[in-house]
Amino acid sequence: MSDVVRANRDAWDDASLKHVHEYDELLAEARAGTALLPAERQLLGPVLATAPEIVHLQSGHGLDDAALVRAGARSVVGVDFGAVAVAAAQRRANELGLPCRYVVGQLPGAPLRDGCADLVYTGKGALIWLPDLRVWARDVARMLRPGGTLFVYEAHPAVPLWTWDADEPRIRADRGYFERSHVNDTFPARGAVERQATLGEIVTAVLEAGLELRHLAEYPDPFWRPGDVDAAAWRGRLPNAFSLLAVRHRYC
Ligand SMILES: C[S@@+](CC[C@H](N)C(=O)[O-])C[C@H]1O[C@@H](n2cnc3c(N)ncnc32)[C@H](O)[C@@H]1O
Repeated sequence: MSDVVRANRDAWDDASLKHVHEYDELLAEARAGTALLPAERQLLGPVLATAPEIVHLQSGHGLDDAALVRAGARSVVGVDFGAVAVAAAQRRANELGLPCRYVVGQLPGAPLRDGCADLVYTGKGALIWLPDLRVWARDVARMLRPGGTLFVYEAHPAVPLWTWDADEPRIRADRGYFERSHVNDTFPARGAVERQATLGEIVTAVLEAGLELRHLAEYPDPFWRPGDVDAAAWRGRLPNAFSLLAVRHRYC
């Protein structure tokens, strides 16, 4: 593990203590099973109808997993390098009797066997922590069964550029779309190094791993809004999220 990855993991372990401190609140949210966004439900509907075995990369608090099970998943294996997050997610899943298992592992390089997933689900603050998306995409393709699906719902790569000004959208003077990284200066992983990749690079990584792109969409709404912030950049004029769905060919 490199020094940057270790520092990021430590920042996430600190941030994930929130999952422990707010255990009961998150348990109630997991019980409700409502964490999936409407666009996720719509796009994943046909796959979830087949009762897939899911691998959730960077599973965090695991609330998405409770929602995926409620929407039809047979099982979910979550992988995250944060031992604090993994332990809290496992405890919640056990308490609710969910078919979810959580594994501590650094990504890419998930400690899971080839062809173990009908659906690899990830996003909502995941890709920015990965230094090499081409290696990540190959790891995803390896885990998918033939015919299996990769689904990503993620912050748009342009998001690091937007200020949180309330009056009108502005571009931060210290950021660039084609930069390779920047330091996170907001909750929850303040001080951690976030990686940057353009939308073209993300899509190309997926294609180069041999997956077939079936869907790509951009959205004006962010997937997450910190409680007391109402940024003008989130009011419909700029991209703040994207979704991607790709499939591993049946005959490879
Ligand atoms: C913003 S959270 C998103 C997780 C999930 N979507 C959620 O909503 O809770 C990012 C997660 O990625 C994990 N993470 C970051 N870098 C990682 C890496 N290289 N390998 C494995 N997990 C990583 C962190 O521990 C954290 O739980």
